[in-house]
Amino acid sequence: MSSALVTGGASGIGAALVARLRAEGFDVEILDLTTGFDVADPDSWEAVGAVDVACLNAGVLGGPSDPAELTVDGYRRAMSVNVDGVVLGVRRLARVMGEGGRIVCTASLAGLTAVPDDPVYAATKHAMVGFVRSAAPALAERGISINAVCPGFADTPMVGGTARTALEEAGFPLLAADQVAEAAWVALTSGETGHAWVVQPGRPPLDFRFPSLPGPRTEEKASVGPPPSLS
Ligand SMILES: NC(=O)c1ccc[n+]([C@@H]2O[C@H](COP(=O)([O-])OP(=O)(O)OC[C@H]3O[C@@H](n4cnc5c(N)ncnc54)[C@H](O)[C@@H]3O)[C@@H](O)[C@H]2O)c1
Repeated sequence: MSSALVTGGASGIGAALVARLRAEGFDVEILDLTTGFDVADPDSWEAVGAVDVACLNAGVLGGPSDPAELTVDGYRRAMSVNVDGVVLGVRRLARVMGEGGRIVCTASLAGLTAVPDDPVYAATKHAMVGFVRSAAPALAERGISINAVCPGFADTPMVGGTARTALEEAGFPLLAADQVAEAAWVALTSGETGHAWVVQPGRPPLDFRFPSLPGPRTEEKASVGPPPSLS
């Protein structure tokens, strides 16, 4: 039987990922704070062995909209769960996963667009998208794929309080957690790596295309690319 792990698998999108993978016949291990696993703790990862599929999904919100109101503890917690939790997980998986291993990280639309309501959350998810895109070539040399899914607002315990009330009052559609899990499965089985998949209600998962950046301009060329070893 193929094996999988899901961080943050005890709730919301993570629980839906667990159910989706089990429906595909995977033996799934849940790595969650509630099961005694802290993704932000490097030592936790040392006990993790090879799996065929890994969903690095655990995440927390960042804090207040006004940077002046940030607490150091709140900031560090968001960075450690959302960024360390993915970087340390990928580091471990790169070491133990066999060829053909597949990783999907739950980022967010907050990794692709500004989120004035929670700038630290946006910073962590932008970091995750940048890491996934940038780590993909080295992982590909090990035969491992990595993708990110970038969902909009989803109907999980993470969306609560005034945010949920505002969304409900505006009639804004929320994603069901299992729609995000389905998008993760599409990303996992796409054959692509280093891609970010936008997930929105009423749309199929979209393989997001980043615009190309302008390179330096020289007298000979309108735009120069970096050397292959640096691109
Ligand atoms: N809900 C949304 O609207 C939404 C939208 C886009 C992306 N996301 C992302 O989806 C992921 C899952 O969010 P959710 O909405 O299901 O939230 P959730 O709060 O329902 O579940 C999060 C899970 O992560 C676990 N967790 C938290 N910190 C942990 C840690 N240090 N180590 C291990 N487990 C930890 C929690 O115990 C919980 O089970 C997060 O990365 C979140 O940022 C959520």
